[in-house]
Formats: sequence, structure tokens, C-alpha cells
Amino acid sequence: MIVLVTGGAGFIGSNFLLSSVPSYPQHSFVNVDKLTYAANLGNLRALDGAANYAFERADIAEQGAIPGIFEKYRPELVVHFAAESHVDRSIHGPREFIRTNVEGTFNLLEACRTLWPRGSGLFHHVSTDEVYGSCDDGGVFTEESPYRPSNPYAASKAASDHLVRAYGRTYELPFKISNCSNNYGPHQFPEKLIPLMISNALERQPLPVYGRGTNVRDWLYVTDHCRAIWSVITRGRPFETYNVGGGCELRNIDLVEQLCRMLAAETGTAPEQLLELIQFVEDRPGHDQRYALDASKLERECGFSPSESFESGLRKTVRWYLNHPEWLASVRTGEYRRWLDQNYAGR
Ligand code: NAD
Ligand code: TYD
Repeated sequence: MIVLVTGGAGFIGSNFLLSSVPSYPQHSFVNVDKLTYAANLGNLRALDGAANYAFERADIAEQGAIPGIFEKYRPELVVHFAAESHVDRSIHGPREFIRTNVEGTFNLLEACRTLWPRGSGLFHHVSTDEVYGSCDDGGVFTEESPYRPSNPYAASKAASDHLVRAYGRTYELPFKISNCSNNYGPHQFPEKLIPLMISNALERQPLPVYGRGTNVRDWLYVTDHCRAIWSVITRGRPFETYNVGGGCELRNIDLVEQLCRMLAAETGTAPEQLLELIQFVEDRPGHDQRYALDASKLERECGFSPSESFESGLRKTVRWYLNHPEWLASVRTGEYRRWLDQNYAGR
């Protein structure tokens, strides 16, 4: 089978390709990525020379760029990771989110519709639990919960989910959607909570916790998410949606304190030296209080449950960042630095 992966040089996409390309030598993988600030081709060095792997640099939002790639490779499965993915960036500059997440998804769906006869092929859309908005009543979101996105990122992903379902219903284009909770692990760009805190703590920079740190997120180790996607592709029903959760809800402040203690233990530092770097800063506008998912459909129908505990996943993550200082140094320069300076001055 020919598998076209979008956004394969980013955080989750690179972890997906690194595990999939060697594990499925019978499949050929083509990675289509624009290489934005969030991408790093160095993530994929282990795949250099693999006979079943190819890379195409392209912008999915550029209408003319995609049909030729579909013609060239004629994929039977598309796994769509490519997106602008950071909520804070979407608040400062939403346009790119609409472009990539909505128009880009639309261009891919059009390419699939052109290439595939009705009812054939599979479009796996990688989405987020943020489409449901904040889960404030102590319950959990199911696949039937209404969409109530709170920020431009979440709204752009919600729009893309709707487009995918509409193509399924109108054109009988087979799709599956997975809506996943917060991921963490190797190769995550240090703008998201966990790698930002690791990176800042190692530089003895302040650890900015929004508001009072009481917001709750559900955490899943990235390779568990990748396994979940394969379980949906191979065992899930077409035209269906599956929530993917970690069953691990944590308040941000508790997570940051646990991370400081783990980093301190791993580096032989007194925990207080890192804990005292925590600073409560101005809250994110429209900040969702809590994300929580019911992932029982995925377990029931696809047999998936996470294999990493938060403790084991966080330890792997911390050790990966400690063992790859050159990766952190390279991504914390250039564009990212300028953006940080523009948007986070004084924090
Ligand atoms: P990321 O920001 O680390 O990587 C995104 C990748 O997409 C990068 O390689 C980037 O170059 C590429 N890309 C961006 N715009 C593009 C364009 N116009 N054309 C082609 N490529 C483009 O993101 P991630 O954290 O790996 O997230 C991957 C997917 O998973 C996204 O769709 C995101 O919404 C979803 N998701 C992420 C999380 C999470 O916690 N990170 C949780 C649930 C769902
Ligand atoms: P983030 O990693 O940006 O993911 P998301 O917004 O998709 O959940 O943020 C996770 C949580 O951490 C969220 O509640 C916002 C909070 N946060 C901070 O408190 N400080 C920070 O510097 C960042 C980036 C996030």
C-alpha cells in the first residue's frame, strides 16, 4: 500500500514515520511537508536511505501543489497530520491556521476525490479534543459531544473535521477521524507546555504558568497516539470518529512541579532551584479550563489502550531532551526566537 503522510517532519508525524517506515516494509510512505518553523528534517535522519520512504516539500494550502504529488504517488491511504498546531500562535495570528488547517485539508480532500473512485481509498484525519471546547461540568466528551471550539486553532480544526465528514457523506469518500488529547514526547517544539518548561528550566529561565495553573489537560505519550492511529486505520470503521485519550488528567501547576522534580533528579540539581523558576503570568485569552475524553469506543472497537504511564512517558521525554541538547539549541534560534521576543516580551 502507498501511504501519503502530511506533516511528517513535525512532532507527531515524525514519531509516526519513525515507527511506521521500518515496521511496515510492505508499505511505501511519502511524507509531504512544507517545513515550517515546527518541522525538522533532522527528526527523520534515521529514515535516510530507506527504500520505502520518500519526501516531498510542498504546501498543502497551495492549490496547485497537491494534484501533481497525488498523480505521482497515487496513494491509497492518506494520514493527515499537517497543521498549524499551537493555540497561542493562533491567538496572535489566526490567518495561517485557516489557510493550512482549513484550506489545506480541503485541497487534500479534493485530491483524494479526484484520484479515488467513490467508496475507495482512506483519508485518516488527525484531529484534536479541542474541537469540543472546555469540559467544565466534571464529565467527559464523547464522539457525540457538540463542537464548541474556543480559539482560532480549535475552530480551524473543527472546520477541517466538518469538511472531512461532509466529503464522506456527499462524495462517499471513506474517512476516519481521531480526536486526541495533549501529546508529549521527543521532537516536540519547545513552544508547547512540556518541552518549553524543560528547555527553560535547563537555561534557568522563568517557567511561565498561565493564570493560577489550575487548567486541566489529559496527557498521552506520542508513540501511544501513533499506535492509536494505526489501530483506527486497521480496525476502526470507515466514516467514524474515535476519541483518543490518555486517561491522565493533570492540573498544569501539578505537572510543572512534577517535571521540575524529575528534571532535578535526572540532572543532580536541588529541586528548589527549578521550582523557584515557576512564575504565574497573565492568562491565555479564552483559555479552556479542562479537556477530558471518553476513549472507550477506541478501546472497545479497536482494542487500543495506552502503554506508557505519565511517569514513564515523562521520564523518556526528559531523558530525550537531556540527550539531545543540539536539537533544542537549533530550534531555539532564528524564527522561533524572534517570535518569542515579539509575543512574550516581559514574560
Ligand atoms: P507540529 O506543529 O509539530 O507539526 C506540524 C507539521 O505540519 C510540521 O512539520 C509543519 O511543517 C507541517 N505543516 C504546517 N503547515 C503546512 C502546510 N501548509 N503544508 C504542509 N505541511 C505543513 O504539530 P503536531 O503537534 O505534530 O500535530 C500534528 C497533528 O496532530 C495536527 O493536525 C494537530 O492538530 C494534531 N494534534 C496534535 C496534538 C498535540 O498535542 N500536539 C494533539 C491532538 C492532535
Ligand atoms: P499547550 O502545550 O500550548 O497545549 P494546548 O493549549 O493545546 O492544551 O498548553 C497546555 C496547557 O499549558 C494549557 O492549559 C496552557 C498551559 N501553558 C502554560 O501555562 N504556560 C505556557 O507557557 C504554555 C505554552 C502553556
